[in-house]
Amino acid sequence: MQKGFTVWFTGLSGAGKTTITERLVELIQEKGRNVEVLDGDVVRTNLSKGLGFSKEDRDTNIKRIAFVCKLLTRNGAAVISAAISPYRDIRQHARDEIKNFVEVYVSCPLEVCESRDVKGLYAKARAGEIKQFTGIDDPYEEPLNPEVVCETDKETVEQSAQKVMAKLEELGYFA
Ligand code: ADX
Repeated sequence: MQKGFTVWFTGLSGAGKTTITERLVELIQEKGRNVEVLDGDVVRTNLSKGLGFSKEDRDTNIKRIAFVCKLLTRNGAAVISAAISPYRDIRQHARDEIKNFVEVYVSCPLEVCESRDVKGLYAKARAGEIKQFTGIDDPYEEPLNPEVVCETDKETVEQSAQKVMAKLEELGYFA
């Protein structure tokens, strides 16, 4: 069996987690690996339906995602999680549970995420229509020792995805 792993993206809404994931999936498939994605927006429509954005609910969401990642990873799959996962303690929990864990900080200044405002949610958060929005009136705790940092205001999607692939190669996941 091939060695499973989880690429754990973390970063603000609009930083580029999902976009990098889409390219990374192609690159991993080119290596002949089965890959599964747990995207925050998607998980919240099924596995985590009904959860909100309090710390407690976000932690529950992340624990569920981490649980599924663990099951898939131990069966040799390549797994990608793409959720904001703003809290350091719960990301550490995910790392401990999953073990073959590659944390990727998708770094992008709040102003840039806000100017992109792909889903129009930053405007709503500024207007007070959405409460507890990450980066606006809810915290985001940057990773202290991520395996990879992607600076999406400075690099292309391709460069970011290739950086992650290089780290996966270095860690021996495609041996
Ligand atoms: S997490 O904090 O629990 O990791 P997750 O990645 O699943 O968050 O969901 C974030 C997505 O939910 C955002 O991309 C955005 O589309 C939507 N969203 C709705 N309300 C909020 C909020 N208050 N804070 C952050 N994202 C929100």
